[in-house]
Amino acid sequence: MRIGTVTLPSPFAIAPMAGMTDTAFRRLVKRHGGCGLVVTEMVSAEGLVRGIDRTLEYAEYTEEERPIAIQIFGGDPEKMAAAAQIVEGMGADIVDVNMGCPVPKIAKHNAGCSLMREPEHAARVIAAMTKAVKIPVTVKMRAGWNDDQRNAPALAKMVEEAGAAAIAVHGRTAAQSYSGSADWDLVREIAGSLAIPVFGSGDCIEPEQIVSRMRSGVEGVLVGRGVLRNPWILAQAEELAAGRAPREVTLEDRGRFLLDYIDLLLRERVRNNESHRVGHDRWIVNKLRALGSWYTKGLENGSHLRTAINSAESLNGLVDTIGSFFLLSERLCSASEETFVSFESHLYFS
Ligand SMILES: Cc1cc2nc3c(=O)[nH]c(=O)nc-3n(C[C@H](O)[C@H](O)[C@H](O)COP(=O)(O)O)c2cc1C
Repeated sequence: MRIGTVTLPSPFAIAPMAGMTDTAFRRLVKRHGGCGLVVTEMVSAEGLVRGIDRTLEYAEYTEEERPIAIQIFGGDPEKMAAAAQIVEGMGADIVDVNMGCPVPKIAKHNAGCSLMREPEHAARVIAAMTKAVKIPVTVKMRAGWNDDQRNAPALAKMVEEAGAAAIAVHGRTAAQSYSGSADWDLVREIAGSLAIPVFGSGDCIEPEQIVSRMRSGVEGVLVGRGVLRNPWILAQAEELAAGRAPREVTLEDRGRFLLDYIDLLLRERVRNNESHRVGHDRWIVNKLRALGSWYTKGLENGSHLRTAINSAESLNGLVDTIGSFFLLSERLCSASEETFVSFESHLYFS
């Protein structure tokens, strides 16, 4: 599958999720296989143009994540074009535009899903960006603003004409937020009417659903919450699509994933002082709490684990909680202790 000049090794991708799909998480999912594309959390075009450190951190990625799309949000064509050039300069393979975020803080700035309410303006944003960069420009949208304005089919056509190389559609309106269910008939209708690839997004929480959505006529499937619950879901979908039995994921695998995530986070944003270390640990604990609220869904005794993660008072306490819940072998826990010792030395002496 191709998006402009970029070849994807699989048509299944991790959907962008603010606060969740950081570089460490994306790398781990990618290492488990089946993932053809990763997209960063949404990044402010304004923040990129102004060079704000926090914004630049959200856009960070590593080579092993390629092909990588950086998703930006904003409403001003010139600023979006300038931000696209910055994304291109950062070496990203694709720049994606957020036309789906329903959060008022974003929508009131004429960005996110509110762009869908002004389709001509939205198309001007895409035209300005495609003129400014050589990398493919893609768009992620919803079904529309509300039930009276389900204009994704018309807008999709307009952004295609403005030069978009692919689009993704989450089949809910902004007014729906996450209630009800995604309208895959609408997604299919759009896929059937465009020449560029169309990804569908919404409600795939089992690998079988990804495969059946894929076979229903879209070129690719973006999976969000399903990956947060089961980071192996894309690999399992790939296996199913190839006619093989999907891999089994053991409790130990699930525990190991969380410990690996902690290890990767420990290596990031490292500074050489004690006060930073305390803040850094808290940042990691908060990241695990955010993931834990999804990761524990559907697990036997998952609500107990969720409560235990939320009440862990230190990073070491969190590691113990994970170790005992997933009945990890001594080997696994001692490996993690070694990692901690080595990271602590790194923190203090590097
Ligand atoms: C916590 C969370 C954060 C999200 N952040 C973004 C975002 O930054 N950009 C975006 O285009 N979509 C965002 N989405 C929407 C997802 O990309 C996806 O389209 C939606 O969740 C439906 O797919 P799913 O049912 O597989 O989760 C977010 C969704 C969730 C649950």
